[in-house]
Amino acid sequence: MTRAETRGLEAPDRALEEELRARLGEVEASLEKAVRSDTEFVTDAARYLVAAGGKRFRPLLVLLAGYFGDPTDPRLIQGATAIELTHVATLYHDDVIDEADQRHGVPSVNARWDNTVAILTGDFLFAKASELSADLGTEVTRLLARTIATVCDGQLREVEASGRSGQSKDSYMEIIRRKSASLIATSARLGGMLSDASPETIEQLDDYGTALGLAFQLSDDIMDVISTEEELHKEPGQDMREGVFTLPVLYALEEGKDAAELSELLGNGPVDGDRLHRALQIVRGEGSLLLARRAVTREVRRAKQLSEGLAPGRARDALVNIADFLAERCGADR
Ligand code: IPE
Ligand code: IPE
Ligand code: MG
Ligand code: MG
Repeated sequence: MTRAETRGLEAPDRALEEELRARLGEVEASLEKAVRSDTEFVTDAARYLVAAGGKRFRPLLVLLAGYFGDPTDPRLIQGATAIELTHVATLYHDDVIDEADQRHGVPSVNARWDNTVAILTGDFLFAKASELSADLGTEVTRLLARTIATVCDGQLREVEASGRSGQSKDSYMEIIRRKSASLIATSARLGGMLSDASPETIEQLDDYGTALGLAFQLSDDIMDVISTEEELHKEPGQDMREGVFTLPVLYALEEGKDAAELSELLGNGPVDGDRLHRALQIVRGEGSLLLARRAVTREVRRAKQLSEGLAPGRARDALVNIADFLAERCGADR
């Protein structure tokens, strides 16, 4: 992985960064091995999104959390691989659910092949993750299974809320806690578990991961509204187009001079073309963005505060750095 790809995710400590980079290289090799099948088409479809790139944010978190125990434990590589396979599997399915035609700047699996291929390959990757976790013991297998159930629960809640402009902010927060923060918290927890960190440290890592995961999804949702097509590698406003009303949208629906117009725009089925353009213009209004960014800052500060319970040192500094990166990437205060 190049430095540019991990921009903002570099450890503040150069030596630590080198170590992490080497271990992430091992995770890459392990991912490459895990997606291989004796059927060429299956390998092509399973390798497709793994090879298209990704920040490897969750594997990085597993490895960093491993520094609160023995960071050289080889089980960390396997755990990080299982977590990334799980994440990528959710993306295969998510692009079907969201009818997305792009991912990482390449056609999504459903666009490149079709929904059936995307669903079955997603299932294949979930199964590969389970196989790897089985080698890591019952506790890890149970944790991963429980997390996958929570992610599905969050995605189902989102589907249920879709198109409803009256959704509460609490309901939105609960959805993102389940669909995103759960796997990020599990990444941090797993790093602690597989490096034999103390039980207290494992709980602290989990709590930190939840706050970080909320900040992660909140900032991702803000970027869907504020970024250009070039930055996102897909058209902005995809969430709204799909009827998924994220925090900046919920704020814009609640207050401001254009709230009634936005409600009218979003209340009449899928919003596209000029209507989507106008809806984005309203949501980009300073009021709603300011409030959504405040929510990011709140979670980033909570994550940093929770990290203070961990042993001081370069790994803890890196966890603080990652939290700050999530604020910066969407223009929020740290
Ligand atoms: C995308 O996650 C899905 C969300 C939870 C928003 P990432 O932004 O980590 O995706 P990649 O792996 O880097 O593409
Ligand atoms: C990604 O969610 C999938 C999961 C969190 C399970 P989103 O639909 O919000 O993310 P992107 O924008 O497609 O990556
Ligand atoms: Mg999506
Ligand atoms: Mg989605």
